[in-house]
Amino acid sequence: MGSAWLICTGLNAARIAIIQPVGKGYALSYTYRLDNEFGTMASTTLSIRQATEADAEAIAQVQAETWQSTYADLLPAKAIEAQFHPRSVGFWRRMLRGPEGKFVLVADADDEVIGFVSGGPSRDPKAGFTAEIYALYVLEIWQGWGIGRALFEASRDQLDAEGHDKLMLWVLVGNLATGFYERLGGLTIAERDDQVGGAKVRERAYGWWLG
Ligand SMILES: CC(C)(COP(=O)(O)OP(=O)(O)OC[C@H]1O[C@@H](n2cnc3c(N)ncnc32)[C@H](O)[C@@H]1OP(=O)(O)O)[C@@H](O)C(=O)NCCC(=O)NCCS
Repeated sequence: MGSAWLICTGLNAARIAIIQPVGKGYALSYTYRLDNEFGTMASTTLSIRQATEADAEAIAQVQAETWQSTYADLLPAKAIEAQFHPRSVGFWRRMLRGPEGKFVLVADADDEVIGFVSGGPSRDPKAGFTAEIYALYVLEIWQGWGIGRALFEASRDQLDAEGHDKLMLWVLVGNLATGFYERLGGLTIAERDDQVGGAKVRERAYGWWLG
């Protein structure tokens, strides 16, 4: 990944950020601009790292918050509540103790987990797509800063290094994330009907060729 400028505007503030790869991680430095005047220079370090069991609670919290902000208009409340912390903490602990071949990476900003990605072998392989990203979430306030791309690219590199040739993932049709995956070069490889929390949903699989 090359360095990039990202500008994020709010009601009376703008953040200007530069993200650059540093070793196996990424460094993010940013300036806050308030009321059209530059305030104190602030900086934080963003790293993409392997999650440990100690991250289970923070990952569950990110999942709960992003499900609420992403799926409130797409899924029944029951389905969203099922993801709520602390119910899913046990799931993530088991995942992190986890079976060979599965992984979780977190985006860590000054020791705070602000996003994560999990992946491993495909649960439903289609035409040789042996690797799958199971979940990719970035806290709403951090979205649009290149962190989703950094998590995706780190996963793609890891799966490639493990010898997979093709990567896929499933996303709800209607989720804005479809635009993100298309921007990252994903091609539609399948669609299916499914049920989430008692609601019928349409899901689309995107695929990438690794290597
Ligand atoms: C989808 C998600 C992971 C993207 O992460 P992000 O950090 O916001 O995205 P990035 O800033 O890394 O964006 C990377 C590129 O995709 C583009 N992009 C991001 N979201 C997009 C969207 N909804 N539509 C079109 N393009 C999009 C960006 O403009 C950027 O393009 P560029 O690099 O050419 O400038 C994040 O928004 C998220 O967690 N959403 C809610 C949860 C979710 O839906 N997860 C996926 C479930 S399958």
